[in-house]
Amino acid sequence: MVEEQNGITSLDADREVCVEVDDLWKLFGAQAQRIVEDPELRMASKEEILQKTGCVVGLRNVSFEVRRGEFFVLMGLSGSGKSTLIRCIIRLAEPTIGRIIINGEDILAYDESRLSHLRRHTTGMVFQHFGLLPHRSVLDNAAYGLKVRGFPVEERYERARVFIEKVGLKGWEHHLPAALSGGMQQRVGIARALTGDPEILLLDEPFSGLDPLIRRQMQDDLMELQAELKKTLLFVTHDLHEALKVGDRIAIMRDGEIIQIGSPEEVITSPSDSYVRQFVQDASPTRVLTARTVMEQPPVLLYSWQGPKAALQILRDANVDSAFVVARRGRLLGMVTVEGLVRLIRSKGTFLKDALDADLTTCSADAVVEDLVPLVAASRYPVAVVDEEEHFLGEVYVSTIIASMIREQGEEEEAAPVESDGETGVSGEPRVYDEEPSSDEGTKEGAQQ
Ligand SMILES: Nc1ncnc2c1ncn2[C@@H]1O[C@H](COP(=O)(O)OP(=O)(O)OP(=O)(O)O)[C@@H](O)[C@H]1O
Ligand SMILES: [Mg+2]
Repeated sequence: MVEEQNGITSLDADREVCVEVDDLWKLFGAQAQRIVEDPELRMASKEEILQKTGCVVGLRNVSFEVRRGEFFVLMGLSGSGKSTLIRCIIRLAEPTIGRIIINGEDILAYDESRLSHLRRHTTGMVFQHFGLLPHRSVLDNAAYGLKVRGFPVEERYERARVFIEKVGLKGWEHHLPAALSGGMQQRVGIARALTGDPEILLLDEPFSGLDPLIRRQMQDDLMELQAELKKTLLFVTHDLHEALKVGDRIAIMRDGEIIQIGSPEEVITSPSDSYVRQFVQDASPTRVLTARTVMEQPPVLLYSWQGPKAALQILRDANVDSAFVVARRGRLLGMVTVEGLVRLIRSKGTFLKDALDADLTTCSADAVVEDLVPLVAASRYPVAVVDEEEHFLGEVYVSTIIASMIREQGEEEEAAPVESDGETGVSGEPRVYDEEPSSDEGTKEGAQQ
């Protein structure tokens, strides 16, 4: 099976690391250096450090890696250090100590000219408040980075037009930003960042100022753009649903520290502490849990080379009236029922494939439970979970889906009267996620027997 750690599967692990941050600290104040060199102060809380030294902890002991092509989300309450971190990564804020490696190079060792090269060629930044030049057209704004880099006017306009079209603003090239809605202005901000063809895009709450409908559309479009352009994204938000929707992995920050990194599913199902739990308690598991998590192994799996009489006996022994049939290497062929087998035996048939029921519903392991509801509701049999090569991975029952929905409702009711612990605003009691249905452990084994 695919091993997971911090939300990185072993498949992802093959992808090159493109941003590596190591024990990064950022303190604001005159005594910053003294604090990071003092072992006792390093351990002190943010409040203590402020009281004793007058310094504000922006970041402490932050370490993580982002892989090429990853959509990496930084999430946390206001003041938790998200902007400081994203700014430190391209040294718009100078880290106090630590290491930042981009494409294998320690960028803290960079002089001004290499730093400016990095910002112009390797990274692009999108800000919450767009940061557009108000007296320049959409086209000029989008082409601005190329102008700074000395591109001739035709070439920069040509490239800017490509990205203006990609962000859906074709026809608006000659308007001023003020003529555009907030969402459209942020599209210009994204086009401007992309026109320079950066490998890494840093986005600091890019959609926070937009109303929910526009915001959702912008999220969809950004995800589509990323799939097409294969950029590496570091995306800041304080909106959990946004993070869960767009992120391959999410890092949750508190008081300048990263307290959990994981896939959306990991963060939802195993929050590392009450602070993370506070964040995820409003999330709807059916929108996050996938078929991989809720699927089960069937009591019986039939193999294409088995005869109908043997198959019928196996179903009867297991007291079930249908089963999936797989070929060699676990490729799913279909489903047979007791009735179908009896008919086949009566007509003297010998091949299971002649009794396959065509009425079979399948889904991918990444399908979210919410999208499975109409599938299981319309299917007479459990829905088969398959991989890209149609290998059978497990099955999803109506009852499993209903259980996860009931659990969700139960949690909503339960969440209401919970008393705050004052500090984090949540109860210290763990939530009910520990009753998760079985993981995909052994799944592939089952399919490969
Ligand atoms: N220039 C500065 N001088 C002093 N303190 C700062 C400075 N910039 C940030 N801080 C402090 O660093 C901490 C982290 O701030 P930061 O802006 O990174 O938080 P954030 O997570 O981006 O919050 P928000 O969601 O409100 O944008 C806060 O306590 C903040 O007060
Ligand atoms: Mg911020």
